[in-house]
Amino acid sequence: MATRLICVTSGKGGVGKTTVVSNLASALTELGQNVIAVDANLTTPNLGLHLGYHLAGKTLHDVLRGRAKLNQAIYSHPYGFKILPASMSVNDLQNVDVGRLPSAVLGLMGKADYVLMDSAAGLGREALYAMQASNEILVVTNPDLPSVADALKVVKIAERTDKKVLGVVVNRVQRKWHELSDYEIEKTLGHKVLVTIPEDKNVAKAITLKMPVTEFAPTTESSLAIKQLAHNLVGREFHYPKITTAKNLIERLASWMTG
Ligand SMILES: Nc1ncnc2c1ncn2[C@@H]1O[C@H](COP(=O)(O)OP(=O)(O)OP(=O)(O)O)[C@@H](O)[C@H]1O
Ligand SMILES: [Mg+2]
Repeated sequence: MATRLICVTSGKGGVGKTTVVSNLASALTELGQNVIAVDANLTTPNLGLHLGYHLAGKTLHDVLRGRAKLNQAIYSHPYGFKILPASMSVNDLQNVDVGRLPSAVLGLMGKADYVLMDSAAGLGREALYAMQASNEILVVTNPDLPSVADALKVVKIAERTDKKVLGVVVNRVQRKWHELSDYEIEKTLGHKVLVTIPEDKNVAKAITLKMPVTEFAPTTESSLAIKQLAHNLVGREFHYPKITTAKNLIERLASWMTG
């Protein structure tokens, strides 16, 4: 099985990487892909929290310390994908060599169609190793200047290390006048905006329930955006579902009544 190793990363923190990884894992699974979501954010891991694996027994920390085999730290999520969580315990931060991440991730080759790595933000050691462990990079940003300026650094490092930048995911978009447009973001980063995910209260609600928003609210705009991104990755066309509004219901009724 050919495995795509994709690092989901950002310059600035808190822009939505973990949200993208947990939901993309679910959306790719819906498209029949085998997915392993990896929490490569070893100092402030959140993927387990988003998906209900925050109390997992063996974790990536154990694997990196040589205290567990890779298979012992991979769990099957009820929504069909697999998750390799990191430990949330402060005690587990000691004696972990993040430099072993790339070789650990290599052990996932052939085990899935997609390995999605939830990276730490920025260009610290753990973020750089997560990037090194992957072949392809998805850059997440918000539509504001600080996020995009920091994203540019990540793009430059990815390019210098010969990683394929798949494109940009712009998250928390509200289409306010002060936000950067897709065009401005593409001009700055030199890569295509693959999808824009709107600001959506359902995202926080889904996280509280420890489930992907694509499952919590499958037809909300943010879910549809993630599904569009999943289609894009597998090279399939995405058709937005037709939503029956009161207006087109009346039109249909009228045409039915008038023959
Ligand atoms: N599209 C969205 N609409 C509304 N809220 C969102 C959206 N995306 C993310 N959020 C909120 O932003 C918070 C941060 O998101 P997330 O944890 O995915 O960011 P991150 O980039 O992984 O952060 P870190 O850099 O700390 O790892 C989440 O708790 C969530 O509530
Ligand atoms: Mg995160």
